[in-house]
Amino acid sequence: MSDNSQLFWGAAISAAQTESACDVDGKGLSIWDEFCSKKQGYIYKQSTIKNKDHMKDSCDFYYHYKEDILLLKKIGFKHFRFSIAWTRVMPDGINVNPLGVDFYKDVIDFCHENEIVPWVTLYHWDLPIELEKKGGWINREIIEWFTQYATFCVKTFSTVENWILINEPSVFLGAGYLFGIHAPGKKSFDGFLAATHHVMLSIGEAYRRLKNEFPDKSIGSSFSFTHIEPAGHKEKDYKAAELADKLVNRMFFEPLIGHGYPLGDVKKLNQITKFFKKGDEEKLITDLDFYGLQTYTREVFKHNPFNPFLKLKHVPADERTIDLTAMNWEMHAESIYKTIMKVHAYNLNRPIVVTENGAAFNDQVVLDRVNDFSRIHYFQTHINEVLRAKSDGADVKGYFAWSLLDNFEWAEGYYPRFGLIYVDFKTKKRLMKESAHWFRRFLSSQLKY
Ligand code: GAL
Repeated sequence: MSDNSQLFWGAAISAAQTESACDVDGKGLSIWDEFCSKKQGYIYKQSTIKNKDHMKDSCDFYYHYKEDILLLKKIGFKHFRFSIAWTRVMPDGINVNPLGVDFYKDVIDFCHENEIVPWVTLYHWDLPIELEKKGGWINREIIEWFTQYATFCVKTFSTVENWILINEPSVFLGAGYLFGIHAPGKKSFDGFLAATHHVMLSIGEAYRRLKNEFPDKSIGSSFSFTHIEPAGHKEKDYKAAELADKLVNRMFFEPLIGHGYPLGDVKKLNQITKFFKKGDEEKLITDLDFYGLQTYTREVFKHNPFNPFLKLKHVPADERTIDLTAMNWEMHAESIYKTIMKVHAYNLNRPIVVTENGAAFNDQVVLDRVNDFSRIHYFQTHINEVLRAKSDGADVKGYFAWSLLDNFEWAEGYYPRFGLIYVDFKTKKRLMKESAHWFRRFLSSQLKY
């Protein structure tokens, strides 16, 4: 198809999923530390994470970051996306911890020494527990807390050019505030609406303030976009799919590009306006420097008369296809083409960066190799679709594979392995999977395939 030189290539991780070292060198606890904890803590919940896995047992990136960056370089990636743990830099969300700052300075310096471009996410879901005690994202004051933290980081880590403000609002808001399966384990409809509005406003406020102070930095944010289709050809199924698209994708994106929340016809969700203050409509409008797009699969919805207010039903992938990943997600490469073209159709005049894409499998080490051919197939087919979107006119600049390393996959614990590099979580030994070798060949060639 197309040649790979058209894009820049990188791999991504996040702090909570890889660093371990949860309570060393002055780091404060985050909502995820406590959500993992078997003890009762502020969140007052037993861990609902599979196998009671705990993020402290992940990759020890805190101690192994040099090895990991060198592996990334060996594969041939030139860009590395990682996140800052707010609680490492500011244990209580407000006051600075110099040792935490030093850690990220070292990581960033090591990237530069190795000619790797760092892309730093400011918020990848690990809110300081001390801020959660004050209401977290439900408290409107968080707009200021987040903006101050973001400003501190951009100023302090001054050699970083590319910043991602908040990772996938839809996922952490839905899972953490509505369904209670992610930290902070809340299940309140009003809380979910308030938190959603405050996250959107935080993106707007932080963007404006950062651009004002640091006009040359590239400031974007990353959004989950899932391609959604109706289960059948009935008009009611199309309507169900359209509504699901609003709830899963558009609600967390369109306010920022000046379209407002697309919820006028869904009375219950439109109650989000309860949390509006004067001027909020304008404050939401943001014009980010780039849009980070993250897509993994396709989801299917159908009409359901028994669902009291939404009248729709999700049709899980394992009920309709056998081509699944370890997350029970359908392998559907065309979805990434469709989601890119959908964002392109907004005519935003800003580049798109695929900030995450990848697949989990139950990888096994056999004779010092991990033969993850399904993952290679996933990457080949998805990258082809990204390049197709580019040649059809979408301004896609780069692509990050999720993930560089096997890591702590939130509520799913350690079973689904997303890495190009296998991590033995007991010994912390790293091993390049066949997919990493495939990427190395792909990146070192200009081959069309
Ligand atoms: C994204 C998230 C990542 C990773 C990935 C795979 O939603 O940003 O942290 O977990 O999904 O599930």
